Amino acid sequence: MTLSVLSLAARPWIVGHRGAAGEAPENSLESLLLAVEQGADMIELDLQLTADGSLVACHDWTLERMGGIELTIEETPLDALREVEISGEFRTPRARQFVSTLSSILALLPPEMPLNLELKRRLADPAVLAARLAEAVASRDQLLISSFDWLLLAEVRRWLPKLPLAPLGGRSANPRELIATAVLLDAWSVHCSRTLVDHELMELAAARPVLTYTVNELAEAQELFALGVAGVFSDFPGRLRRQIEAA
Ligand code: G3P
Ligand code: MG
Repeated sequence: MTLSVLSLAARPWIVGHRGAAGEAPENSLESLLLAVEQGADMIELDLQLTADGSLVACHDWTLERMGGIELTIEETPLDALREVEISGEFRTPRARQFVSTLSSILALLPPEMPLNLELKRRLADPAVLAARLAEAVASRDQLLISSFDWLLLAEVRRWLPKLPLAPLGGRSANPRELIATAVLLDAWSVHCSRTLVDHELMELAAARPVLTYTVNELAEAQELFALGVAGVFSDFPGRLRRQIEAA
């Protein structure tokens, strides 16, 4: 099967984590645009399904940390979420940022910009989430869908057979299970915590690119690239790029 187009610049890749989360409110339009400006090779953002079926960019299950209000994304309709300002730790005067829908993000970012959409799900129906994703991304290339929820990725594969996928493994993931899942899903890449990367994992991954999170320091990025890691998710994509170029 031929996957949809996903073409990135030469390795190693610097992926903007939640946009440029070290310098702007994570997953906000401002953060995503900043990562584009800073020359990220790809931009990662977290997506969840609202109670009324919209996909919105948000990492946490609630808006407490970013918006100061205990609203659970998956239990709240879009209109209520949209009203909450998400400054997080960035409370300096700036354009106010609000929870954004996937559709508004896709409309704003350049169509050729590679995006890694990380799906987060706790309560949502996997089939509904996959169906909503399929509607939202219908006409866009340069997408890579990842998730810690591997069964959800299998559902996404049913709805979007050609979309590049990546299983995500956290700190406590079993590397063999992670790679076996990548093989089963015919995944484009494998994403994992930097703490999981060692020679064994790299051997198991074979030709499949391994991308690791979250890497903000040059020395650590260099160590991972030397092990064969293809890309890193960074909160400071511009700074890391400059440091790599200057090294
Ligand atoms: O997708 C890579 C990374 O973002 C996974 O962890 O918790 O930052 O979404 P998290
Ligand atoms: Mg993420």
